[in-house]
Amino acid sequence: MTGYDVLAEVYEWLISDAKLPPAEFAASFDDVLSLLPSNAHVLDCSCGTGQLAVGLAGRGMRVVATDASEAMVRRTAELSEEFGACVRAVRANWEELPDHFEDDTFDMVFCVGNSLHHAAGATGRGAALESMSRLLRPGGRLVLTSRTWELVRARGSRLDIRDRLVRRNGRDAVVVYRWEIAPHWEDEHHIEIAIAQVDATGLVLVRSELLSCWPYRYEELEVELHRVGLRTEVSTFDLEAENYMVVASKV
Ligand SMILES: C[S@@+](CC[C@H](N)C(=O)[O-])C[C@H]1O[C@@H](n2cnc3c(N)ncnc32)[C@H](O)[C@@H]1O
Repeated sequence: MTGYDVLAEVYEWLISDAKLPPAEFAASFDDVLSLLPSNAHVLDCSCGTGQLAVGLAGRGMRVVATDASEAMVRRTAELSEEFGACVRAVRANWEELPDHFEDDTFDMVFCVGNSLHHAAGATGRGAALESMSRLLRPGGRLVLTSRTWELVRARGSRLDIRDRLVRRNGRDAVVVYRWEIAPHWEDEHHIEIAIAQVDATGLVLVRSELLSCWPYRYEELEVELHRVGLRTEVSTFDLEAENYMVVASKV
């Protein structure tokens, strides 16, 4: 089973209130979207449950959504249908993308929401970025968001229990992240995510998944982007901030 097949069923408990509506998720990228024509051809290559893809389609863009998880792709297709959005949803991991799409196809590729760390180490990450770069037309842009792993690693292994219940679909849940930080940057790390739903009778239903991840330093990411022909145009990297965004264009 691919990671996220269990979490896919309860993934909305992990998305912030602000990004749950597809239009709002897309609006969080307004700055980069303003660089595109309204009928741009875009790919979300780790689409999760599809909020971004559906939001982009709602703006009239031609949208393809891919993900390694079959269950995530199914949820994206369901969300598209619910919103009457035209999104082509395809199951493909990053390395498989060139088997599905021609080189130089897309104006913009999104890899957002803490996805890239699931690529297996520097080799896997390099291959993933290479695929994304190949699919961009010259001048096209990769939009990547990432955790600031420098901060995450400095905190060490820990249990992070969110301080508020999250209510979705009329049901409250406690969200828990367990971080397993390995001794070295290049080692496989783990994040276990649990969503404990509590029903009106007090019954608790837990869905959890142990995910592998391979952290990277911002400087490494910059070098890796450059290596696959992408030049950083915008970076919000800040050692004190939890997340950052990089926009890199294909030379
Ligand atoms: C943290 S979720 C982010 C989902 C979505 N982008 C969001 O912001 O809500 C990470 C996603 O990356 C996908 N993923 C993990 N490894 C992948 C791979 N090798 N190729 C493509 N997608 C992958 C997972 O299935 C999952 O949907």
